[in-house]
Amino acid sequence: MYCASVFSLVWIFINGNSAGEKTFQANGSEGDFETSKATCSQAGGLLASPRNSAENTAIHQIVVRHNKKAFIGINDIQTEGTFKYLSGEAIRYSNWAAGEPNNGGGTEDCVEIYPDGRWNDRSCNEKRLIICEF
Ligand code: IPD
Ligand code: CA
Repeated sequence: MYCASVFSLVWIFINGNSAGEKTFQANGSEGDFETSKATCSQAGGLLASPRNSAENTAIHQIVVRHNKKAFIGINDIQTEGTFKYLSGEAIRYSNWAAGEPNNGGGTEDCVEIYPDGRWNDRSCNEKRLIICEF
């Protein structure tokens, strides 16, 4: 028990970040939104989906560490302007950058997190750092 918890703390420290019940991890690989979702799901997790500022901060720190923007598990693919989690549940927490979401070019249905932790709606076809939550 003690060994397992020390091990998991060391593991999280080296490989990821935790916030509450979740841990967030990235291994440096990148993908578009669909690839990012599939990669996390194949790993037994979910594309990182911040539900509060503590979780957003944990994800933000990984973005800074890798110096790469990342997609989060939020989109308005189904209904323009209504952002939802992958589960289909509407978001209640958000951290949009100033002026966002702006649906630039009329084709921005996914959400990336910037190195300052703020969010921007962006084309789902861009390639971004893959961050999963477990
Ligand atoms: C755009 C800008 C804009 C944002 C768009 C981006 P680009 O970048 O950052 O503020 O709202 O989502 O596509 O296309 O001018 O490099
Ligand atoms: Ca945008």
